[in-house]
Formats: sequence, C-alpha cells, structure tokens
Amino acid sequence: MTTPEHVAIIMDGNGRWAKARGLPRLAGHRAGVEALRKTVSAAGEMGIPWLTVYAFSSENWSRPKSEVNDLMGLLKLFIRRDLAELHKNGVRVRVIGEREGLAPDIRGLLDEAESLTAGNKNMNLVIAFNYGGRDEIVRAARRIADAVVRGDLKSEAVSPEVFADYLDTAGIPDPDLVIRTSGEVRMSNFLPWQAAYSELVFMPCYWPDFTRDHLADALGQYAVRERRFGGVLERGIAL
Ligand code: FPP
Repeated sequence: MTTPEHVAIIMDGNGRWAKARGLPRLAGHRAGVEALRKTVSAAGEMGIPWLTVYAFSSENWSRPKSEVNDLMGLLKLFIRRDLAELHKNGVRVRVIGEREGLAPDIRGLLDEAESLTAGNKNMNLVIAFNYGGRDEIVRAARRIADAVVRGDLKSEAVSPEVFADYLDTAGIPDPDLVIRTSGEVRMSNFLPWQAAYSELVFMPCYWPDFTRDHLADALGQYAVRERRFGGVLERGIAL
C-alpha cells in the first residue's frame, strides 16, 4: 500500500460537534485539540513523515472576539503542554501563515516551537496558523517583486519552482492527500498552490470524532487512487 508522504487536514466541525451536544463552541475546539494530539501520534506510527493541519485561517478573525481569544488560548496551551512531548518524539514543528499582526506572546511561542525542534527528524508537523492561501501567494509575489527590484532575481527566472521557494511552505513537499472532516466539500483557501495535484478525501465526521481509524480509512482511499499529475498512466508510471 502506498503511504502518502504528506497528509494535510482541514479540521472542520468543532462548532457543530459542540452544538450537537448542547455545549459551548469552546468545548468543541478543546475536543478538537485532543483529536489533533491523537492524530499526530497516529500519523507518526503510520509512517507519515509530513502532517499539516489548518488551525486558524486568516478569515477566522471575523469570528466573535471571544471565540478568536479561545482559539489563541488553545494554541498557547497546545504549544506549552505538548511541545516537550513533540520534541521528545523527534517531531519537527513548522508554522505557516502570516506572523505579523499576531500577539507577541503567540509569535514567541511559535518561534520557540520551531527553533526547539529544528533538528528533529522523525516527523514534521506543519501548523497553518493565521494562514490563507491567497494571502500566502500575495506575500510571495511581493517578496519576488522586491528581489527583482533589488536586482537579486531576474523576472525571466521566475518559474513555478522558484515561486514555490518564496511561499511559506518552501522546502516542504506538496501534500499528496488532503482530508477535510465535517462533510463540507470545499478547500477554503487551504494550500491552493500546493494542493494543485493532491488527492482529496472528504469525511462526514466532525473533527473531534476523528480517530486513527478515520485516518487509516483516508489512507486506504488514497492508496487506490491513480495519480497522473496531468499525464497519462502507462504500466503504472505517470508519463
Ligand atoms: C473548525 O471548526 C475548526 C477551526 C476553526 C479551528 C481548528 C482548531 C482546532 C482543531 C483546535 C485548535 C488547535 C490549535 C492547535 C489552535 P468550526 O469552528 O469551523 O466548526 P463548525 O464549522 O462546525 O462551526
């Protein structure tokens, strides 16, 4: 069975999970953090070297202030409580998204998570925080324009590979598989460049209910897909 090198997850449905139980939305996000913890260890055990999770989108700022604060609080708690464990297990943490505009304590924690784990090699956890795909592409385009103006880069030299080096995900392989929970069937500005050829699996369960079995199910669906990258398949080789 082919195991994907990189799995990316849109962790959706925390709010509906809570509502279905008559609980506040925060309870759903808390349960979502538990599901995230379990998923990171399951992915490690299943031999998935890269896991990216969508924790907070650039559009999530439009939620009520109290919910934004709750999500910021949960990120802080997650890093404070789990960083040592992730580090002990050899997990390298990377964060993608816009850092500017985040509170200094959050930025500090994100920087600390990245620097502490920079040398780890067992597995990579990429946290998309204050991330929006269009925003990422625009920031990359600005940096490219600046490099051209400075004379460090020739515009003719800008290829898809060079462009990708200016994205937050520089050096990270494209996701092979994107999973979205909660039954919604859309990408919501998640890795629009990087997921151009990804296989997509949409699952009805809400994120807090996501277990190792759901991950195994998604990997099973992935294993029987034929990936052609725009070419044709001949004797199992993408041409
Ligand atoms: C979607 O549920 C989930 C989010 C907006 C945030 C994902 C966050 C977590 C899993 C917990 C936080 C983890 C960290 C590390 C910060 P929703 O609120 O959109 O649910 P709904 O669509 O049912 O309302």
